Amino acid sequence: MKHHTEHPLRPQYHFTPPANWMNDPNGMVYFEGEYHLFYQYHPDSTVWGPMHWGHAVSRDLVHWEHLPIALFPDQNGAIFSGSAVVDWNDTSGFFNGGSGLVAIYTQADSAGQRQSIAYSKDSGRTWIPYTGNPVLIDERFPDFRDPKVFWHESSNSWVMVLAAGNRLFLYRSPDLKSWTFASEFGAQEGSHDGVWECPDLFELSVEGENGASRWVTIVSIGDDPACSEGSRTQYFVGSFDGTTFTNENTPDTVLWLDYGRDNYAGVTWSDAPGNKSERLFIGWMNNWKYANLIPTGDWRGAMTLVRKLSLKKETQGVRLIQKELDGYQQLRLQGIESSGETLSAEGIQFTGMSGLLEIEAEFDLMLAAEIGLRFTSGDKKTVVGYDVASAELFIDRTDSGHTDFHEDFACRHSAPLEAKEGRVKMHIWLDRSSIEVFADEGGLVVTDQLFPVSETDGVELYAVGGEAMLRTLRVYPLRSVYTSVAAQAVSR
Ligand code: FRU
Repeated sequence: MKHHTEHPLRPQYHFTPPANWMNDPNGMVYFEGEYHLFYQYHPDSTVWGPMHWGHAVSRDLVHWEHLPIALFPDQNGAIFSGSAVVDWNDTSGFFNGGSGLVAIYTQADSAGQRQSIAYSKDSGRTWIPYTGNPVLIDERFPDFRDPKVFWHESSNSWVMVLAAGNRLFLYRSPDLKSWTFASEFGAQEGSHDGVWECPDLFELSVEGENGASRWVTIVSIGDDPACSEGSRTQYFVGSFDGTTFTNENTPDTVLWLDYGRDNYAGVTWSDAPGNKSERLFIGWMNNWKYANLIPTGDWRGAMTLVRKLSLKKETQGVRLIQKELDGYQQLRLQGIESSGETLSAEGIQFTGMSGLLEIEAEFDLMLAAEIGLRFTSGDKKTVVGYDVASAELFIDRTDSGHTDFHEDFACRHSAPLEAKEGRVKMHIWLDRSSIEVFADEGGLVVTDQLFPVSETDGVELYAVGGEAMLRTLRVYPLRSVYTSVAAQAVSR
């Protein structure tokens, strides 16, 4: 497979397909030392079409090896989104008493959507569709897709969570082949700005709660032409007894997993090592509003950074926290640090950096009305800032470069963020065509694509309406995962 990594907009540390169209991450599972990432893939075009499962593996979730296509459309339809599990005890009977991988996915054609399974006896290298496919059909629902399956220890059963139009359906199975309806969730809860897709359901312990845990369900909501935000991802927190998920917040509570425009269809890794306090998540860094139009090269679509999800009790309730995978630290090149500098409208400028950056900045807001960072490329810029009066973090990509491919792309959008003790801290990741901002210790994340006209050539930190202080600043140029070493200096 050709893999042109040098294109000026090709992400250098975010996952992209070697060429052609990619959407949702699928079938993420850890097995025998490898993290598998499958993805919605159209191998013949840079726009969405008959879906396959593309495939890659990694040992560190940072460097990926591309593998041949895992699943191809067949007589049951194209291969839509789904999940994969390790069948440790051969409940399926596919593994002669041993263990192996089973993928559970939607097959779609003009007649409808149905669930199928396939298994692999060689660590995911080749896949055999089950002869009894499809394993789950319900013709009442035209939107009936994206099965996420997990083993529910205490009731000794596989559980599937599936999106069915405006709600989730839950099913149970002893063997991954026969599925029994268990319950439904959500028709009257959360956001219904679009069709529900790509659910996940998992348990996490709550930080500082002495072993208490909650169940989290992630639900992506599709693009609705009436909604300029496009496709987004929400989550619910509650309990699960093996049959029913119960939301512990009021039905009208909407919890956004990400306040940016470009984090969709994300779910978590199955069977990953670690304890119940963390799960690994990746999302498709794109938005159905304009996904087919983004001005990239011979590929289209990228994934977000891999993130660690955990739960924390906040004053308003238990909330999801997202932290970047520690593994990205291996990409740091010689950085610079400073502290205690006064910020004013003139700003502090850094030049001579490439478009790959990690920045940790903590601001003392003092008398400022707004503080922020401007990422420049020629006479274009992207601004990440904090507006004190409205208590909101914002990204402004109105003048960020190529924006005219869709009328809703050029935008400034905000997320609620309380300054703590007059301070705001941001952890920012810039790649050639994206920016991810983590704030509030991971309680708030904003993920956006950007398509600069040329490489980022400078960063400017500023305060307007009064002086602020830069308490701490760390700027690391990052190396590309496609190069092993590179010398890069940041100067001011
Ligand atoms: C979400 C989605 C899924 C579907 C897949 C098709 O982005 O619409 O619901 O399975 O993409 O590619």
